[in-house]
Amino acid sequence: MERVFARSWLFVAHESQIDTPASFITTYMGEDSVIVARAGDGRINVFLNSCPHRGNRVCFADSGQGRQFTCNYHGWAFGLDGALKKMPKIGLYKATPGFRMEDWGLKQARAESYKGLVFATFDDEAPSLADWLGDFRWYLDAVLDAEDGGTEFLPGGATRSVMNCNWKFPADNFVGDIYHALWTHLGGADPTLGRHGGVKVENSGSYQVSVNGHGWEFNDSFLGNAATMGDRELLRYMRSRQEAIAARLGTFRAGMWGSVASATIFPNFSFLPGYFTFRTFQPKGPLKTEIHAWTLVPRSMPEEMKDRFRRGSMRTFSPSGLLEMDDGENWEFSTQSNAGWITRHQRLCYAMSAEGEVVEEGLPGHVTAGQLSDANQRLFYKRWAEMMDADRWADISFDPPSARAEAAE
Ligand code: FES
Ligand code: FE
Repeated sequence: MERVFARSWLFVAHESQIDTPASFITTYMGEDSVIVARAGDGRINVFLNSCPHRGNRVCFADSGQGRQFTCNYHGWAFGLDGALKKMPKIGLYKATPGFRMEDWGLKQARAESYKGLVFATFDDEAPSLADWLGDFRWYLDAVLDAEDGGTEFLPGGATRSVMNCNWKFPADNFVGDIYHALWTHLGGADPTLGRHGGVKVENSGSYQVSVNGHGWEFNDSFLGNAATMGDRELLRYMRSRQEAIAARLGTFRAGMWGSVASATIFPNFSFLPGYFTFRTFQPKGPLKTEIHAWTLVPRSMPEEMKDRFRRGSMRTFSPSGLLEMDDGENWEFSTQSNAGWITRHQRLCYAMSAEGEVVEEGLPGHVTAGQLSDANQRLFYKRWAEMMDADRWADISFDPPSARAEAAE
């Protein structure tokens, strides 16, 4: 909590969740409850969902609209900018020497957006979000900037489920573990995947990229993941967009749009192209993780196709989804068995594909050829270990942005 979650830029909302002034959602940063609110001036504010009087929660709703948050305990009221506006017996405070209303607003986080995704950190010393994401932004555009008009989360909120696993299991799985799909998801995914590019065992057209601990394993199949949702109409529609997406992003990144792929933005924000499920793995102690998942679509997509995405992503990656259940069982049992004293001290094998074996030249970030590899997982834990060890930001290294990614901005 102290070394990783209190310092990192954490995903808190998609701007579409708080589209209108005075709308808000509540979520978590680590184990701290936070409010993400759009103030009257359109600015997005992120603050601790905790009253500075005695610490009570000030908002119990998942989302909503309103002018202020009023604490249940003694009635202190805060504006959408987090400022303390009023409280019962205000005169007693005002008569107290040195008391100033402006000193007692809700604790505010730094908030910045990248193409619709809002991130926040409570660390004043943290680098900018642009530096934190670095060249990963160039790849993120493959899902965030594939169509005119940006993206949105499908309305209706998140699916939420609790798994009895450590948060690092799902984060590790999404950052680079396509290997498990060949076995864990064999029953659900194999028949459709075979016809749409599948998992590429050979190196050509399949990659892992890592930047600052964030990672994405992918191939150039364009529709590989999407195919497993089992909706021919949707695939036909997606195929009809291929040329336009390639014209916008170039063929390389267009190939990533719905391909067999998964990604994690360090530490706990992951997504799957193709299903476009975006999820946070919220730690609840070391042995429990709450998963919040949304479906992201281009805003310009026809409503019927958005609805097909809703059903397709629910059918595959939701608490009752065909593929999500496969994963959950493995993460829970891995967490439980690794808790044994002897077990937790054994060495685990992250040896697949020696690091630096094949590096693709000219692509931003640390790119290795072949999506079947432990390269991203090694770099995810390298970042985790760096943050756990570092007393100061200066002790944590960041990859400088590349000319290619900068030019694409
Ligand atoms: Fe919120 Fe007292 S704890 S008003
Ligand atoms: Fe899986």
